[in-house]
Amino acid sequence: MYTQSLDVPHAVALEPPGADSADQGAQERFDSRIAADQKIEPQDWMPDAYRKTLLRQISQHAHSEIIGMLPEGNWISRAPSLKRKAILLAKVQDEAGHGLYLYSAAETLNSSRGQMVEALHSGRAKYSSIFNYPTLTWADVGVIGWLVDGAAIMNQVPLCRCTYGPYARAMIRICKEESFHQRQGFDALLAMMQGSQAQREMVQESVNRWWWPVLMMFGPSDKESIHSTQTMQWGIKRISNDDLRQKFVDAAIQQAKVLGVTFPDPDLKWNEARGQHDYGTIDWDEFWSVVNGDGPCNKERLATRVKAHDDGAWVREAALAYSAKQTKRAQAKAA
Ligand SMILES: [Fe+2]
Ligand SMILES: [Fe+2]
Repeated sequence: MYTQSLDVPHAVALEPPGADSADQGAQERFDSRIAADQKIEPQDWMPDAYRKTLLRQISQHAHSEIIGMLPEGNWISRAPSLKRKAILLAKVQDEAGHGLYLYSAAETLNSSRGQMVEALHSGRAKYSSIFNYPTLTWADVGVIGWLVDGAAIMNQVPLCRCTYGPYARAMIRICKEESFHQRQGFDALLAMMQGSQAQREMVQESVNRWWWPVLMMFGPSDKESIHSTQTMQWGIKRISNDDLRQKFVDAAIQQAKVLGVTFPDPDLKWNEARGQHDYGTIDWDEFWSVVNGDGPCNKERLATRVKAHDDGAWVREAALAYSAKQTKRAQAKAA
């Protein structure tokens, strides 16, 4: 999901080795492939700025998938039934898989996994602001599936046509899984809305808390978005932040009617002339404060991630030791 940080200034720029050593012909070949909407593959020459932009976007996307496991992971042991627990486990495992595909795609751009993980853990790399909000009730798990994964799909479907081959191919599989995530969230909420008054109130309260942060997931408005023009010219980004946000609002309103919930925005109404819904003003101060580290859970999320990495050190060491032993054995046999 979660590519908003593409548009966030001060995002980390990883600096892998390799100079921008194109001859004129290489640049022309690149430009004509982009113009023809053909894929760029890892072995192809590409401008350094294109590579760096993709590396920043894909690694931030990978970090978001991994950090995104935490808010929902908190509810696996408290799911209300075996069925919901199995669904949630599968969903959270999918997010781990998304992180892995994306780290692999980013590695094709001359960055190591270690460099990317270090950038995340040191706080230099960004991830989607949405995961810095707490999951206070079971309804939050449903709302994350419905709205957060729903917003992610809106953002990610156009990335399946991205000009960088490994990213586009990873996104095709990811989008299929995100669709399951969205549907399971909606289904969990529908069950609650058909339950008791207390359950319905829990869903509405959760929707009220998540609505505005979800709209922020699409990133700053088009006029504030610093990287958008170039990334659209390169065929990485296909639809602008504001256009994606509008598509999401229009779709979510129909789904909210089916569920029987409302969104906490008095300015939300159909605009006959535009053929779209108007909506209120987003609190961008809140957005920037969360992006810059002062959201409700930023420190907790990062600390949990760093601890998990440290706790897993023995697994990485054991795997390396085993691999070294196998190599030694193979060499001894060959000698
Ligand atoms: Fe995901
Ligand atoms: Fe997801």
